[in-house]
Amino acid sequence: MIVKFFLILGTIFPATLNVHEVLNHLTGLLGLPAGTLVELLDLAAGYRDGLNREPEIFAPMLANRRVALVFFENSTRTRFSFELAARHLGAGTLSFTAASSSVSKGETLSDTIRNLEAMKVDAFVLRHPSSGAADFVASITRRPVINAGDGTHEHPTQALLDILTLREYFGKIEGLKVMILGDILHSRVARSNILGLKTLGAQIAVCAPSTLLPGRIDQLGVQVFTSLDKALAWADAAIVLRLQLERATGGYIPSLEEYSAYYGLTDEKLDRLKRLLPVLHPGPINREIEISNLVADRIQPPGYSSSMLMEQVTNGVAVRMAVLHRLLAG
Ligand code: CP
Repeated sequence: MIVKFFLILGTIFPATLNVHEVLNHLTGLLGLPAGTLVELLDLAAGYRDGLNREPEIFAPMLANRRVALVFFENSTRTRFSFELAARHLGAGTLSFTAASSSVSKGETLSDTIRNLEAMKVDAFVLRHPSSGAADFVASITRRPVINAGDGTHEHPTQALLDILTLREYFGKIEGLKVMILGDILHSRVARSNILGLKTLGAQIAVCAPSTLLPGRIDQLGVQVFTSLDKALAWADAAIVLRLQLERATGGYIPSLEEYSAYYGLTDEKLDRLKRLLPVLHPGPINREIEISNLVADRIQPPGYSSSMLMEQVTNGVAVRMAVLHRLLAG
């Protein structure tokens, strides 16, 4: 029995976990040292290998743990991948949506969290429309809090899965030129990616119409392009962002057609490059607005783009397993 346990461990723990510091919560990538990021990425890479195997076998290291998925905003990828990640590690999950909870009767966020904590929940995965919500929850609970996206602030596990996808493709992050295209102003994904990628030594550029750029974007140490052709010529890889139409992004551009003509990533624009460019997108995608069908769906040449979108989704499960492992298995 013990031998079998260690055999299973051996199959899924190719990386040794060196805990450099206490990581109580993951509310953002701001301030996380390169060592901690690399440790999480290495752990996730091991889990990614496990997910590629048939059947997937993981040690149930989080057996008897309960992870509350507290989602005040809709989600497909983040929510399901956290749920799968928890289950792969043997944890139980409790799902929460604002519409089906007592929040609809006026219960506050802090009361909701305190009540779930009293039920002996072991960790909170929180998505919330307000920037700073994850840090607020972390300040009122002793349980680990993982930010699954808060307003326009951060989405740290999305950035980690994007970085893992880039690292798998290029074999490294240091020195890579990553161009983030689209609605930078409203994007928590852009912010977390800029923080994480820069910590690991990548160069970052953003490309957007000036109305979709934050006022002091250059202070984040990124290059700014308003011409997509120039940005593509600079980049080794592109992360395309969704136009967040539910946040009234449409009011920042003359029309969707015009945005698409100037900033939509299409085959024609990539053809001018004459070299292969991997393309990432956090999803959900607005097809034929920020990204063409062909660019979103083509995973192999012929052509000058390689869609990493489904790689990102699978890596999302692995990254969330790594984060739950790191925060809960201590
Ligand atoms: N990328 C992302 O956060 O997708 P969901 O909104 O579906 O979780």
